[in-house]
Amino acid sequence: MEADVRSYVVAHLPGDGIGPEVTAVARELVDQAGKRHGFTVDWRHCPLGSDHYLRTGEVLPDDVFNDLRKTDAIFLGAVGSPSVPPGVLERGLLLRLRFELDLYVNLRPARQRPGVAAAGDENLDFVVVRENTEGIYAGAGGIAHRGTPFEIATEESLNTRAGVERCVRYAAGLAKKRGSKLTLVHKTNVLVNAGSLWKRVADEVATSQGVSLDYCHVDAACLYIVSDPGRFDVIVTDNLFGDIITDLAAALTGGLGLSASGNLNPDKTGPSMFEPVHGSAPDIAGTGKANPAGAVLSAALMLDHLGEAAAAAELEAAVDAVLAAGGAGSTEGWSRALAAEVAR
Ligand code: IPM
Ligand code: MN
Repeated sequence: MEADVRSYVVAHLPGDGIGPEVTAVARELVDQAGKRHGFTVDWRHCPLGSDHYLRTGEVLPDDVFNDLRKTDAIFLGAVGSPSVPPGVLERGLLLRLRFELDLYVNLRPARQRPGVAAAGDENLDFVVVRENTEGIYAGAGGIAHRGTPFEIATEESLNTRAGVERCVRYAAGLAKKRGSKLTLVHKTNVLVNAGSLWKRVADEVATSQGVSLDYCHVDAACLYIVSDPGRFDVIVTDNLFGDIITDLAAALTGGLGLSASGNLNPDKTGPSMFEPVHGSAPDIAGTGKANPAGAVLSAALMLDHLGEAAAAAELEAAVDAVLAAGGAGSTEGWSRALAAEVAR
């Protein structure tokens, strides 16, 4: 009988700008890790993004969406291009996938890594659980009287009890696993409606799960993330606050090039999607300078989610080892250094 080899179907959406360059490096490392750990990845190339849109007018055709829905995971590079109006790809592709696949947790770890010149405190090691399907991202709003002096633009923040609760529940579970406390970040002193719902739900969930809960306004959280990050371990927050504070955390931990994220369906009723936090960086696309570490660390989150924890830890350790040795100056340099590390 043949040895039991685990196999995963992963849709690879390289996307725009540096997306193809960085995800190619990550893919290679995942395949290498698979050989050592007894699994294979059946990569399904999916050429969506600005080129495809400009050529065909398609952002995310329904038949492609249905194929994506059937995969084990989606691995995305980056979307967005100066030649496409803002929002078309972000809303039509990235946010549509987050919403329609119901990827309600955006998991973004932040850690001061070895060898990275610390912009912040060395005691920075937390995970942000960003709500990923609601809030001001939900798309409620519009423009009336466009182009007139009476033009009105609204953007409403939608917060459902069910949506907040499932997100906080995930974060509380994570805090429990890490043996730590949970911090809710919001702006309850001004956003009294959404803030009240978040606070009450967080209190209920924390109590029922036996997790200790702290609270911090988002403006103060920005201050403490810089001046005293050790006070945070698991942060749970709304969609927009999570977007903003994770860029801040990235800046303090070596930059966006090192930051990873997982858009999770924690119930595993469908695929989750993994992507570096950085954007398509069109200014450096094709120059060979893009740092693939964020993509590699996102692939590690993917492997962990698929149940390949040992392989995930190996990729994570490889990134740390390369950083500890001074990092690498180019995409190619990173690729070689990481491959050498994992082959050790
Ligand atoms: C992110 C990005 C996206 C977001 C954009 C590209 C829509 O900034 O993943 O953080 O705002 O969520
Ligand atoms: Mn962002």
